[in-house]
Formats: sequence, C-alpha cells, structure tokens
Amino acid sequence: MAADKTATLNLNGSDIDLPVLSPTCGPDVLDIRKLYAQGDVFTYDPGFTSTAACESAITFIDGDKGELLHRGYPIDQLAGKSHYLEVCYLLLYGELPTADQLEEFETTVTRHTMLHEQMQYFFRGFRRDAHPMAVMVGVVGAMAAFYHDSTDITDPWQREVASFRLIAKMPTIAAWAYKYSIGQPFVYPRNDLDYASNFLHMCFAVPAEEYKVDPILARAMDRIFTLHADHEQNASTSTVRLASSSGANPFACIAAGIACLWGPAHGGANQAALETLKEIGSVDRIPEYIERAKDKNDPFRLMGFGHRVYKNFDPRATVMKQSADEVLDLLGIEDNPILQVAKELEKQATADQYFIDRKLFPNVDFYSGIILEAMGFPTSMFTPIFALARTVGWISQWKEQISDPALKIGRPRQLYTGAAKRDYVDIENR
Ligand code: ACO
Repeated sequence: MAADKTATLNLNGSDIDLPVLSPTCGPDVLDIRKLYAQGDVFTYDPGFTSTAACESAITFIDGDKGELLHRGYPIDQLAGKSHYLEVCYLLLYGELPTADQLEEFETTVTRHTMLHEQMQYFFRGFRRDAHPMAVMVGVVGAMAAFYHDSTDITDPWQREVASFRLIAKMPTIAAWAYKYSIGQPFVYPRNDLDYASNFLHMCFAVPAEEYKVDPILARAMDRIFTLHADHEQNASTSTVRLASSSGANPFACIAAGIACLWGPAHGGANQAALETLKEIGSVDRIPEYIERAKDKNDPFRLMGFGHRVYKNFDPRATVMKQSADEVLDLLGIEDNPILQVAKELEKQATADQYFIDRKLFPNVDFYSGIILEAMGFPTSMFTPIFALARTVGWISQWKEQISDPALKIGRPRQLYTGAAKRDYVDIENR
C-alpha cells in the first residue's frame, strides 16, 4: 500500500519521516518498518495494543461502534440471513457465492469430512479423561502425518486442498474427541446432513437407535459457528500467522492456533464464563461477585466480560443473547436459573462505575455457554466448538498471508532488561 501522508518523528535532534498508511476503515497506520535502520531505535508495544502486524482485507472491527464486518458485511446480517458455509466461502474468497458456487463449495466440504481410518488409533492413544482441546491440538497437528499431499505451501492447489480438509474434518475431530471422552463409539459423518446437523449427529447419535437432529437446534449451532468464524488479528489468529511465517505446514499452524485459543483469556473463556455463572448460582449473590471482580487483591475476573477491541458492546453477544432465549424456549427450559443470573449480572455489572469506566461489556462467550449446555454439550466441549468454527478464519488469514508478497518471518524485537555483558566466574569463586 502506498502512503499519501508522512509523520515526522524528532529523535535526538534529527527528523525521521514515517509514511502514514490509510486503510479502507479504521485509524491511519504509521509505517515504522524502516525506523530501526533510520533511527537505531525499536518501538515497545507488549500485547500489540497499537501495532498492526499485517495488511489484511478479510475482517474489520470498530471497537467503539461495536461493529464487526466480514469482507464488509455486518455480522448481524450474516448471522440473520446467511449460514456458516456461505460465510466460510465469503471469508476464503472475498465475495458472496452465486448459487452454483455455493453448491459446489458445500459439496466439496461435505466430501472431505471423513478422517483417515488410521486416525482412530491415534485418538485411542489418549487417556479417556483428556481434555478435548488437548486431543484437538494433537490430532490436528498429526494431520500433517496423514495428509502429506497437502503440506507444500508453495503449491496453491495443495493450499486449497488443505483448506477444504481442515474445514471439513474439524467437526469430525471435535465430535470424536467428545465421543472418546464419554466412552461411546465414533459416529461417522453423513453427507446428507448440512454442516451443523452433521456435527450434532456425530456428537449425539449412537449406533443403537436413530437420532433426528432438531432443525432449530441445528440453526442455533450454525449461528454459533457463524458468530465465531473470524475476528481479525486476535491472539490465536496471530499465532497461526506467526507459525506460518516460518513456512510451517498448514496443519501445524492450525494446531498452534488451537493451542493459543485454549487459554481462559481467549477461547477458554466460554467454559470459564459458564463455570463462573454456576458458581454465582443465584441472583442474590451477584453483588458479592461484582465486588470480587473489582478487588485488585482478588485474582477473580468476571469471565465473559471485557474485550481488547470492543469498548461499547460486542455485536456477537447481542445475537448470542437472542439465540439463548430461542434455544431455551424451544427446549422448554423456562426460568433457567443460570440464564437469569447471566441477564441480571449483565444488568448490574454494566451499571457499575468500575465496568463503565473500563468499558467492560459481555463478550461473545458470555451467552454461548448457556446455549451449548442446553444443547447437551459438557463445558469441556465449548472451546473445541469455538476452535471448529474459527478454523475458517485461521485458514483464510493463513492463505492471505502466504499470497502476500511482503511476507517475512515474524520476529519481534525486545526491550532487554537483563544483565549487561559480564565475565564468567569460576564456581569456586562464587
Ligand atoms: N473482570 C474484571 N475486571 C476486568 C475484566 C473482567 N472480566 N476484564 C478487564 N478488567 C479490568 C482489568 O482489571 C483492568 O483494570 P485496571 O485498568 O484497573 O487495571 C482493565 O479492566 C483493563 O483490563 P486489561 O486486562 O488490561 O484489558 P485487556 O484488553 O488486556 O484484556 C481481556 C481483555 C483479556 C478479554 C479481559 O477483559 C479479560 O480477561 N476478560 C475475561 C476473559 C474473557 O472473557 N475473555 C474472552 C475474550 S473474547 C474472545 O476471546 C472470544
């Protein structure tokens, strides 16, 4: 991208001109790539709060307005009118598909859902009580050992095949991780079911009897996938990009993304949020927990609250809250105490000065756990479902990065505060 403005940095009496880049949306970006060469100085930005690490045309977030756009389309429109595989196409290729393109894409994804049969033995090597995220990190990384013909990242066709394989097989991997943990037989994917229904079927069907997927639950599942599909340069996506910058194969890169997503400050928050709501247990205990969240001497945080980028509201949380009402209504779960605690907690926390000052609002994870639990998923499956849905975002960003002529290995600098150079001291003199 060419700069149309410059900013001048005065450093030790000398002026350094820095190009200013203007993105389609969002604030201007200072191009500091030549800063070290020109000024012998680094910038310091732990947590990347002010640093753009790449150029991207996939997703845009306006944290102040609470806006999330995929290829320009607002998330609430996509969640309301589109469906997950169409959003996958949009993220991967940049435009909404025609009817023919969508049919072809769905057929291709559907035909890649089975896992190499030998992978079953790989699953069986895990302890029964392994967390499904541990299984997913291992199995997705191991795909490089099973699918050698799609690991050459310099070949665009192999990149395409790897993308299909990951999007198509992730539901099977997540469902099998679950089945293994509860001691039930693996259920094979079915080509006659849509993406979300197939996943629910692989999770909840057993060979002994017929299992019919409720279309309303499938729609809610699909919406959860859609709401998690991509989120620009979040921690796990940046991890995928950093791993990929070294030329690592796609399966290794996505496994790295899954590992990062697992943390409670990121994708692990949906499990942690539901556990917090259950711990609170009843509406009358909310003030006590709000006080704990505000107490700097108490490590407790209200999980599902706060976001690095959204400082007004998380648009995904709004859709998720509606979905929670719909799903519980469908399942005939009236007056769900956890949903009541969630709604009252949102009300009290967002009216509290501590949360107002720090712009802390419920994020996407606050309500998703309630829906997933109502569907029958244990909390340990919440983050694997997030990983499944986010795979398309990781893959889209990975493909974009590899096609970028400006690609360089990611190699941050540091502000060194250790010992200065000193001489080794022999052990008898220490
Ligand atoms: N509960 C209580 N206080 C909070 C919370 C919370 N959930 N989140 C932030 N704060 C406070 C911090 O203590 C800090 O207060 P201070 O300024 O007085 O020191 C201030 O708000 C800013 O917090 P930071 O941690 O500096 O904000 P950051 O942008 O680094 O972190 C994060 C964002 C990680 C999401 C944080 O809000 C958090 O830990 N939330 C809970 C976990 C969670 O829900 N994560 C999911 C994020 S969405 C996703 O990954 C899909």
